[in-house]
Amino acid sequence: MPHEIDIKRAQAFARQVFGFYTGGIVSLLIHIGYKHGLFDAAAKGPATSAELAARAGLNERYVREWLGSLTTAGIFTHDAATGAFALPPEHAICLTGDNRLNVAPVSGFIPHLGKVVPQVMEAMRDGGGVPYSEFRPEFTELMDDAWRRIYDDALLGGFLPRVAGLTARLEAGARVADIGCGTGHAVNLMARAYPRSTFVGYEIAEDAIARARAEADAMGLANARFEVLDVTRLPAEPKLDVIFAFDTIHDQAHPAAVLKRAHDALAPDGLFVMVDVKGTSDVREDVKNPFAPFYYGVSLMHCMTVSLAEGGAGLGTMWGEKVARRMLAEAGFPGVEVIDAPRPQNVIYSARP
Ligand SMILES: C[S@@+](CC[C@H](N)C(=O)[O-])C[C@H]1O[C@@H](n2cnc3c(N)ncnc32)[C@H](O)[C@@H]1O
Repeated sequence: MPHEIDIKRAQAFARQVFGFYTGGIVSLLIHIGYKHGLFDAAAKGPATSAELAARAGLNERYVREWLGSLTTAGIFTHDAATGAFALPPEHAICLTGDNRLNVAPVSGFIPHLGKVVPQVMEAMRDGGGVPYSEFRPEFTELMDDAWRRIYDDALLGGFLPRVAGLTARLEAGARVADIGCGTGHAVNLMARAYPRSTFVGYEIAEDAIARARAEADAMGLANARFEVLDVTRLPAEPKLDVIFAFDTIHDQAHPAAVLKRAHDALAPDGLFVMVDVKGTSDVREDVKNPFAPFYYGVSLMHCMTVSLAEGGAGLGTMWGEKVARRMLAEAGFPGVEVIDAPRPQNVIYSARP
């Protein structure tokens, strides 16, 4: 052995590792609870396992075991006198409801990404990646569910006003595209809020486009349309005034080509608005970011590998500000403003052609 082992330090590290495993199992149980409506049922008030099982229409034995894990994990409290389990209101707001603090939907990524572990391991050894098709159709629903409330809560009043001049342009009437729009909820919200502007959402996934169109129809929007398009082929004409890229550049197979296309499609006074994951492009700096292990991990299991599967750049979710600035400059954007997003996981890049 090169040097003596500090046994206390080793034990502390082993506990830390076990904490990761605990987080993994608890994440699965959060997912189960979210999907079975157990948090909604619990938010109605303290309940014994039998009462909660009855509220949710589930088997008491399973619910009791589930409560055992989530109570010892600190999510529920337990009253020994009454036998009731309670979800404190501060916890309920993070696991139920239509506000963006509800992080329960994110738990779905854990079992979803778990399914591709064998393929990721294979790619790690043999090269290549796991294609997007392996993640569909669940990925479409998961992304929608993870971001829908954030858009509802924070797009119009949070993200957009942070970009100088953006809301005035949208109000006045602008030609707008959202590239890699997923299920199009951001487009539909903006189209409703800015009736003088016209919006198009581009996306490669047909199932996502079908959902986007259905929502636009249900909302009665005449100024939003959606097209299946690989945005490496984004047309340069007719020119656009604003192009959005929400959480999509880092998992592109060919991000440099997409940025160049976005640049070339903008009118001379146009605006490119890219919302992406906050990172520094330097793992030594990223250690200060509490979200970094999650996003590097999601990158390995999804964002990086879907890009590498197509022989792409494999930028990764944590490509970060330095790389983004360089790539935007290479695409032809002379200046880039980097703006804090209304949530700490993200950053907004605003660039003019
Ligand atoms: C992480 S998701 C973000 C979706 C959406 N913007 C949102 O905020 O929920 C990235 C999306 O980019 C799409 N995408 C990836 N490469 C694309 C390409 N070359 N052309 C069009 N869409 C693409 C994916 O299908 C996926 O829906």
